[in-house]
Amino acid sequence: MIKPNKLTNNNFLSSLDVSSEEFIHILDIAKNFKNKNLKVELENKVLGLIFDKSSTRTRVSFQVAMSRLGGTTIDLNPSTSQIGRGEPIKDTARVLSRYCDVLAIRTFDQSILEEYAKWSTKPIINALTDLEHPCQTLADFLTIQEEFGDLKDVVITYIGDGNNVANSLILSAALFDIEIRVACAKDYEPNPSVINKANSLYKKKEVKITHNPFEACSGTDVIYTDVWSSMGEENLKINKDKDFKDFTVDKNFINNANQKAIIMHCLPAYRGKEITDEAFESKNNRIFEQAENRMHVQQALLACLLS
Ligand code: CP
Ligand code: NVA
Repeated sequence: MIKPNKLTNNNFLSSLDVSSEEFIHILDIAKNFKNKNLKVELENKVLGLIFDKSSTRTRVSFQVAMSRLGGTTIDLNPSTSQIGRGEPIKDTARVLSRYCDVLAIRTFDQSILEEYAKWSTKPIINALTDLEHPCQTLADFLTIQEEFGDLKDVVITYIGDGNNVANSLILSAALFDIEIRVACAKDYEPNPSVINKANSLYKKKEVKITHNPFEACSGTDVIYTDVWSSMGEENLKINKDKDFKDFTVDKNFINNANQKAIIMHCLPAYRGKEITDEAFESKNNRIFEQAENRMHVQQALLACLLS
């Protein structure tokens, strides 16, 4: 019977904090949890949630995952704790890691997360930063694996802003030598250091960046999109809506992809912006499977980090 193995890294701050073998192990554990073939007891373990930005899926899926493991969660809302009043991270992290067994943190700059990891004696999980959203990518790859079986011949096309979701997707694609195409408006390319890291990981391929979303869908298995303006970019929304006007995922894009191509979106979605209602609701949609898988992969991640 499979059981969760301890991960090499104590933290999960980036998609690259796990090896390809560890990534597949997390997906295997997640599938066993999903099929109710595995029971892991983390009785008395406590997960602290620190969210500097809004969340529905990440917050609730972590809470339910921890409860399924027999542990509990504390929602450390920054506005009602001393975090919101500016208590230094190095003090907060040293205190909270004496109470909690693991912390999941959603914040702005990646350096804030790294500061928590530096001072915490317990594992830190990236629940989304401006740079990465690695828990999302675990769920995305589980969804892709469930659909296509083997990951290695899959082609993924990400259409939209070169943001946190795109960055983590790119890094994990490179880890598995999977072809990824990113179709974005000019000047909205993914972070150059992410592209360099991914290209140095690729054995035979490289990240394909294009400004033509329709062409990027040709022969693809996955069409993935996300909001054009991420949390914290509300002031850029008017310009970004203009700059991305030709990047709305619609039926034409889907018709240009492989016949069995699936549509993915990490949610929340803005219909009529990054995706039409018709494309969102089409039979190719695996968006809600993807959302459900957040819970299974995070249950697996917690079991591995705390085992
Ligand atoms: N996809 C995702 O992370 O959703 P939330 O912002 O609702 O957590
Ligand atoms: N890129 C989006 C993802 C939300 C889950 C954001 O950061 O707001």
